[in-house]
Amino acid sequence: MQESKQRLLTGLQSSGALHIGNYFGALKPFVDMYEQYDSYLMVADYHALTSLRDPLRMHTNIINVVKDYLAAGVDPDKCVLFRQSDNQDHMELAWVFNCLVTMPFLMQGHAYKDKVAKGLEPNAGLATYPMLQAADITLYNIDVVPVGEDQRQHLEYTREAVGKFNRAYGEAVLKAPTEKIFDTVGVVPGTDGEKMSKSKGNTIPLFGSTAEIEKAVMGIVTDSDGDIPENVYAIHRLLKSAEELAPIYETHKGRYGDLKKLLVADLQAFIAPMRERRDSITDEQVHQVLLDGAQKAKQTSNQTINRVRTAIGINL
Ligand code: ADP
Ligand code: TRP
Repeated sequence: MQESKQRLLTGLQSSGALHIGNYFGALKPFVDMYEQYDSYLMVADYHALTSLRDPLRMHTNIINVVKDYLAAGVDPDKCVLFRQSDNQDHMELAWVFNCLVTMPFLMQGHAYKDKVAKGLEPNAGLATYPMLQAADITLYNIDVVPVGEDQRQHLEYTREAVGKFNRAYGEAVLKAPTEKIFDTVGVVPGTDGEKMSKSKGNTIPLFGSTAEIEKAVMGIVTDSDGDIPENVYAIHRLLKSAEELAPIYETHKGRYGDLKKLLVADLQAFIAPMRERRDSITDEQVHQVLLDGAQKAKQTSNQTINRVRTAIGINL
């Protein structure tokens, strides 16, 4: 890896099975870009702890997210693929950020307010979630963070935390990152037409079985009138160009059931090779990838956390 390359990082919470919104919004952009950068890909398992209190599911989700990453085409030799909880520097820098921002600032966060409105317990971890994310990013001197639209504010919060730190302790100790949000993807709609989300039960699972994918697609909510079922079309557009879809939607005008079946077939064709690759990945491989990744991650973050410790006055 050349030092002159810009640095890129993204992460997904290990809070449940990945869906095609996660794939097109965050994972695919990473896969498309990561070889041009000095890249980091993280499993945000401590973030998942804000909403998941089942140790067995926590454990299997971590393994599954790494398998999903590898199956989606991430080569662990070409980036640093690691897990947040394997590197305690994240906890340490998050605490430092927590001591710089205010509770009212954190409680204004869209994600915090949305999650509490949905009935999640307003635990302190949920409120300080963006400061752990700020630590994830700044520990590795990251320039670019590819994410979905819903993460825009978390990147603003990261810059705010970095600004506060640098103003308090000396300019240029920490680097401010920029988000990379692909307009072409925007927000992938779920089967109910709302944003597809793990917590809403409206997902099309990325590595679902044939039956699961079929059930999800056949259940997509459609308007009762109009030639084109918008929610079906929006998902179809992720797989095929407008030019490719035009004749298909013309031929099947108003026949929503047929269009859904065509979408199922296209999704299956798209997912099958990834699913095959995923089936061949063992838990042992995942452990090895994480072991290597943790070592590499620590090498980089160690330098940042040392600068931070010196800056705040705790390096004796
Ligand atoms: P979820 O909302 O399903 O819990 P996460 O919050 O874990 O998903 O999001 C993981 C990544 O996937 C983020 O970068 C997020 O922006 C992206 N993402 C999630 N849902 C969608 C969607 N429906 N459309 C586009 N991107 C999405
Ligand atoms: N908050 C992100 C999400 O819900 C996950 C995440 C944690 C992340 N740390 C990150 C994304 C650092 C990008 C960079 O999707």
